[in-house]
Amino acid sequence: MRVLILGGDGYLGWPTAMSFAEKGHEVCVVDNYLRRRIAMETESEALIPTPNLADRARLYAAAGGRAMDVKIADCADYRLLSQIVAEFQPEAVIHYAEQPSAPYSMMGFQAADLTLRNNLGVTFNLVWAVIEHAPDCHIVKLGTMGEYGTPNIDIEEGWIEIEHKGRKDKFLYPRQAGSLYHTTKVLDTDLLWFYVRTHGIRVTDLMQGPVYGLSTPEADIDPRLVPNFHYDDIFGTVVNRFLVQAAAGIPLTVYGKGGQTRGYLNLNDTLQCVELAMQNPAKKGELRIFNQFTEQFTVNELADRVQKAAARLKLKVKIESIPNPRKEKEEHYYNPAHSGLMELGLKPHYMTEDVLVAMLERILPFQDQIDRGRVMPRVRWAW
Ligand SMILES: NC(=O)c1ccc[n+]([C@@H]2O[C@H](COP(=O)([O-])OP(=O)(O)OC[C@H]3O[C@@H](n4cnc5c(N)ncnc54)[C@H](O)[C@@H]3O)[C@@H](O)[C@H]2O)c1
Repeated sequence: MRVLILGGDGYLGWPTAMSFAEKGHEVCVVDNYLRRRIAMETESEALIPTPNLADRARLYAAAGGRAMDVKIADCADYRLLSQIVAEFQPEAVIHYAEQPSAPYSMMGFQAADLTLRNNLGVTFNLVWAVIEHAPDCHIVKLGTMGEYGTPNIDIEEGWIEIEHKGRKDKFLYPRQAGSLYHTTKVLDTDLLWFYVRTHGIRVTDLMQGPVYGLSTPEADIDPRLVPNFHYDDIFGTVVNRFLVQAAAGIPLTVYGKGGQTRGYLNLNDTLQCVELAMQNPAKKGELRIFNQFTEQFTVNELADRVQKAAARLKLKVKIESIPNPRKEKEEHYYNPAHSGLMELGLKPHYMTEDVLVAMLERILPFQDQIDRGRVMPRVRWAW
């Protein structure tokens, strides 16, 4: 298939591009290096150095990978994005191109403004570029499980049937996000649903949990093809932060009581899910929603797992609770459905001790470059 990947320089975009190219798809990647720029401005650069997107694509091709088309362009600029869609005529677009950091979106007006305008702007432009230039194209959009928040009832896959005063109807499942970033994802979903209803576009919205992992078949060909690895409080997920803290001999910092539960998945499973969604497209006029994660953990359980994995490498790790910089429930009910992607054929890779040990082994050579100041929270939700 002809696949356009927006956000192709990102943690998920780059391994997706290599994986799809390897499978014989014709791949075009677009990125404007927004994440690299924000990382520099907030002193949150990746721990493991990564070449820029054009160099990575060259390195991958030189190592025997298939060539891909690289465009350095801002998808929030309609002229540029619509030109790319008109010329490339994608059959599927994988839309990763957003500002994905919840803490960054809570830093203050400028960061919030950038997050809101960028994320909604890119989604809006993509919808229109597809309507105007490739109306049959399937949009595969990355949403987040964070759109649902942590309600005290079971979370369904995107939709809920409600009976009210004796009548029934189906609606988008209620969403109540915990950061401005997550709220932009809720708004994206509403925007997509609107254009699905009015213009009959085809969309799959993947409500993804936090992803972990550095190893994919293609990324393992050459160390310079590694996906971005952030460990700071802005771009680093809790798994990355704990692994780096373990490697640096810093106690693992659990925010508050540590009962916060989320659904996680391995990077290889993101690649599978996105491909399964693409190969089994939504119908015209359909907004299809899948919850994309394979297993769920509390923050305390993650800390225990990292502590055990570190012990195998003779690293002594302490676990410490610190005041929670976020406004969130620290103990709550959590039971989201996630059968849709399994029914399409997803074969999960679970978070085994071996997987965590392998990640630690990738991190340890960079031990000296770990900046301890970056792993502690620098952003609070409200002062
Ligand atoms: N990584 C996760 O754990 C996770 C979990 C749930 C959802 N998601 C979602 O998946 C998507 C990808 O996440 P990621 O972790 O790879 O993030 P990332 O920041 O590493 O990748 C996003 C990429 O998009 C690019 N980008 C942003 N705005 C752009 C624009 N206007 N024009 C062109 N390029 C632009 C960035 O430069 C970056 O390279 C995001 O939408 C994120 O919200 C990620």
